[in-house]
Amino acid sequence: MKGIILAGGAGSRLYPLTLVASKQLQPVYDKPMVYYPLTTLIEGGIREFCLISTPQDLPRFRQLLGDGSAWGLSIEYREQAKPAGIAQAFLIAESFIGTDAVTLILGDNIFYGGDGFTRAFGESTGGATIFGYHVNDPERYGVVEFDGEGRAISIEEKPKAPKSNYAVPGLYVYDNAVVGIAKALQPSARGELEITAVNVEYLRREQLRVCRLERGFAWLDAGTSSSLHEASAYVQTIEKRQGIKLGCPEEAAFRSGFLSLAQLETLAGRIPQCEYRDYLTALVAETRRLKSL
Ligand code: TTP
Repeated sequence: MKGIILAGGAGSRLYPLTLVASKQLQPVYDKPMVYYPLTTLIEGGIREFCLISTPQDLPRFRQLLGDGSAWGLSIEYREQAKPAGIAQAFLIAESFIGTDAVTLILGDNIFYGGDGFTRAFGESTGGATIFGYHVNDPERYGVVEFDGEGRAISIEEKPKAPKSNYAVPGLYVYDNAVVGIAKALQPSARGELEITAVNVEYLRREQLRVCRLERGFAWLDAGTSSSLHEASAYVQTIEKRQGIKLGCPEEAAFRSGFLSLAQLETLAGRIPQCEYRDYLTALVAETRRLKSL
């Protein structure tokens, strides 16, 4: 399974924040936003990534994440010249995907709770898996309608009269057919290659699974000033209460077996003195202590 992080777009709703740094580089409490979706995919066991962004922003993502090798990952970069739709990612990353299955995550989507995704990646045996999440304002998203048996029967992009409260979050798991499906798409009325059109095609082929995310699961998108602030407050609340970090790629890479304890310790030692370093150092010490019992 390969991973695509889509981190382009205009970010116009966050103006003037996005004049000099893209939305996905903005801080969500104590880390850059892109750390959160990256961590979600690492937790799901994905190791090979392609990050797609605008020509202006790509150099900063490279500066932040490098080639991924420090974290036991590989990260490639591709440009999206214009924000021509989420599904364009599969055309831009075609050579990266090769013959593999692929998971696409949006760079401004933050998930927390449960192991729903990890299982979905593991169980993905063809077709597509997307998710349904109950929200207050479904008309802002792709909306999925279920029948009495819980099967998805329709998906509509930003409908004026939503048929349910279930929005489709920005994490999509596809088999390799997604590249061919994306190639056959026509731009929508708003001029974009729509991810909803990809999902509708899988639904037509009877190869779409829609997993409903449980109540205890958090999905936040940080696309407006308010939602960015709320996401920061949410992360701060959980981190302070639980003494854990959300969106920590080093920890996720270690837990997924991509980094050894010794490598994690070396990494922590290279970070300047700060709370983030203290957290990783404490994680190393606690792991050692548990091993010695
Ligand atoms: P949006 O939030 O819908 O768009 P945006 O980021 O351009 O923001 P705004 O509406 O304020 O101008 O995009 C959702 C995510 O998908 C976001 O992380 C950006 C990304 N995206 C791309 O990278 N390329 C695209 O062509 C589109 C449509 C979105």
